[in-house]
Amino acid sequence: MSKCKICNDSVMTVIPFGRMPIANGFLNQISSDEYFYELIAGFCPKCLMVQLEKTVAPEMMFNDNYHFISSTSAAMSQHFSEMAEEIYQTVSSKESPFVVELGCNDGIMLKHLVSKKINHVGIEPSKNVAELARKNGVNVLENFFNQDTAAEITDNYGHADIISGANVMCHIENLNSVFEGVCTLLKEDGMLLFQDPYLLDIIKQSSFDQIYDEHVYYFSGLSVSELAKRHNMQLVDMVHQDVHGGSMRFYLKKGNSNEVSESVSEYLSQERALNLHIIDGYKKFKNNVDKICYELKNSLMDIKKAGKRIVGYGATSKSTTLLNYAKIGTDLIDYISDNTPTKINKFTPGVHIPIRSHDIFLDDNHIYTLLLAWNHKREIINKETDYRKRGGKFITYFPEVVIE
Ligand code: TMP
Ligand code: ZN
Repeated sequence: MSKCKICNDSVMTVIPFGRMPIANGFLNQISSDEYFYELIAGFCPKCLMVQLEKTVAPEMMFNDNYHFISSTSAAMSQHFSEMAEEIYQTVSSKESPFVVELGCNDGIMLKHLVSKKINHVGIEPSKNVAELARKNGVNVLENFFNQDTAAEITDNYGHADIISGANVMCHIENLNSVFEGVCTLLKEDGMLLFQDPYLLDIIKQSSFDQIYDEHVYYFSGLSVSELAKRHNMQLVDMVHQDVHGGSMRFYLKKGNSNEVSESVSEYLSQERALNLHIIDGYKKFKNNVDKICYELKNSLMDIKKAGKRIVGYGATSKSTTLLNYAKIGTDLIDYISDNTPTKINKFTPGVHIPIRSHDIFLDDNHIYTLLLAWNHKREIINKETDYRKRGGKFITYFPEVVIE
């Protein structure tokens, strides 16, 4: 039994996925020395945090070879432009506003504040991604965020009005240290806002592929509220976001006497209604996950038996969990189409499916496409009208297998 990374109590296992490769560990060539670790999702009944029971060293995941570039999707670009506008509206009336973004990636959000001349720092540990942010004019500190980094930024720039992070908090194992850093860096009336895939969406859709090495935590309002209290902060608002298959933007302030939006108590009661405060809610989740894997694999095998070909769409990080847990490999999928230049002609982690450019997909006469980037379904289906006119079908699998 492992110990909770937040409160040190004992964690109860939710799903043991077994041996997994690094989700973003795309290979230049198939090799026998690929790194594997044990992927286990667990739940802490004391502080209510869902988390990985064993974690991978950050250097194994966020290195110079990191392939997750935010700006590959038009919808995500739009989303982050709106997030930047929200931040701008919050800080623009302040005297010399200062914004810090944790995990600024290629600058997809901060570049909008650059053009509005807002004083900012973006923190990004992956060198290749940090370079892209610099090209977007973003002031980047190439490091991991912790108390030391927080003190360094405070010394150099002063305290922050806003600290934001999108798809980054859930990546950081030592979250207590991040929160201590946030408390150091944030102004007394400042706001921490962060968004990550939302546990309630994962449970409702059974979208277990969100569980992989980079996502150490799966936040609910219940667990974030507990975490905030631990650091003398308060969860003051929750706003749902449609990105990444369902995310939640959490708003936190210092102290315990802030005005709290009604949406907090609404989401917390929805979470309790699904038993996310006790282990029972997670037992049902595991059964649903295994059912989906079984049905998806059977559907793919039936298509192959009928002599048809299947390709994948979107070599996403999360598809590593799906493909490896359900054991879907090159016997079922010919290749995966992806528009990220650095992924093309590589092989997916573990099951070693080749990745090909979108041009190859467009010229291909296959009929079935496993939509691995299911969170971008609307954008992709709109874009692939020709494929659908030619009789092409997409296979999706959350909350159940659908071929349409
Ligand atoms: P993400 O869901 O983690 O953002 O990853 C999406 C992946 O899918 C990324 O590798 C880019 C790829 N992708 C395409 O190949 N075509 C598309 O139209 C979209 C939206 C994404
Ligand atoms: Zn705990």
